[in-house]
Amino acid sequence: MKILAIETSCDETAVAIVEATGDAATAQFRILGNALLSQIDLHRPYGGVFPTLAKREHAKNIVPLLRAALEEAELVREDGQELSEETREEIAAIFTREEGLAEAFFDFVSEIEAPEIDAIAVTAGPGLEPALWVGVNFAKALAKTWNKPLISVNHMEGHIMAALATHVTDTELVIKDVALPVLALLISGGHTQLVAMRQWLSYELVGQTRDDAVGEAFDKVARLLGLPYPGGPEISARAEGARGANIETPHTLPRPMLHDATCDFSFAGLKTAARYLIQSLGDVDDQTRAQIALEFENAATEVLLAKTARALEETGAQTLVLGGGVSANAHIRRSFAEAIAREHPDVSLRIPRAALTTDNAIMIALAGYYHALRSEFADPSTLRANGNASLT
Ligand code: KG4
Ligand code: ZN
Repeated sequence: MKILAIETSCDETAVAIVEATGDAATAQFRILGNALLSQIDLHRPYGGVFPTLAKREHAKNIVPLLRAALEEAELVREDGQELSEETREEIAAIFTREEGLAEAFFDFVSEIEAPEIDAIAVTAGPGLEPALWVGVNFAKALAKTWNKPLISVNHMEGHIMAALATHVTDTELVIKDVALPVLALLISGGHTQLVAMRQWLSYELVGQTRDDAVGEAFDKVARLLGLPYPGGPEISARAEGARGANIETPHTLPRPMLHDATCDFSFAGLKTAARYLIQSLGDVDDQTRAQIALEFENAATEVLLAKTARALEETGAQTLVLGGGVSANAHIRRSFAEAIAREHPDVSLRIPRAALTTDNAIMIALAGYYHALRSEFADPSTLRANGNASLT
């Protein structure tokens, strides 16, 4: 089946068309079209994602991205469809809070025939609620216009499915030979969670942060060091530079909750310790910046590793996946690969390619397919965006 997937939970607007075959045990995916626009440059001056700006940008860009994805998938037939007055009214009512989107939507859908897709999957949460609504309403309007079933996807589930997938070629993915239970370490700007999947699509929370998410800590420490948003890649580049040059760090930062007997995390204390350290140093030069980045990245990685090791023991997981934007981090990827090979050689570690770790719509199509296989479709009249949607 061909799935059109939409993701607007944060600061990436993304539309993908993926052809999926097979069953849960062995599923194959062909990426037919993939259009993504990052808003990072627009949010950078604010030092973080500004929700109303994110919403406006999603609403402005989603139609051009849909067109681009459909064109890449060769699914555009310029033979318009006249919408009935009733349908137009229903769609205008869906878009009451997305200024200008109804007009752009009508212009586009009335130019083309309904494309040959089988379902529309959309991220309903978690994320920034105003941003999520754009995708959810857009998906509802498309489902209505083209008479297609709708699938509601949890963003974190998308990260898990992307992490389980392996590339066969640049445009082909496969999910197979997954030994259950799966343990997922989900690390992003909004989440730090250890989730066990003992059966397909059934999740259990094993541990989570009690305060800040690890990505948030990366972003805040970067800001304290005078580095631009998003801070994760900035910290990473400086820490890697210091490692490469064998620069040692004279600074020490805490490893919060390292030895506590749960799989929970805390990153607020690490961030605060970094703040005091940076304040105590006065003006920081590039070398000091690199040393602090190195120590911070080492501290965060050690905690992530220790808690994941504990969760592996507790759950007896056979497969470990890393998902979410922070799993793009080179040091974290390397450290996990080494630690798992050394201490848990029986566990299969899967980390997605960097392009699939940050937010995208392909991961939403993958997760959507698993729901479609179970005929889990959403009711367009009741589907809502939920910023706090939980997996468990
Ligand atoms: O999953 P994601 O794209 O969006 C959310 O759902 O939050 O994750 C974004 C987060 C940001 O905090 C960003 O700084 C962090 O992922 N990040 C990184 C790296 N690349 C992105 N953190 C550490 N190292 C990186 N290389
Ligand atoms: Zn994400």
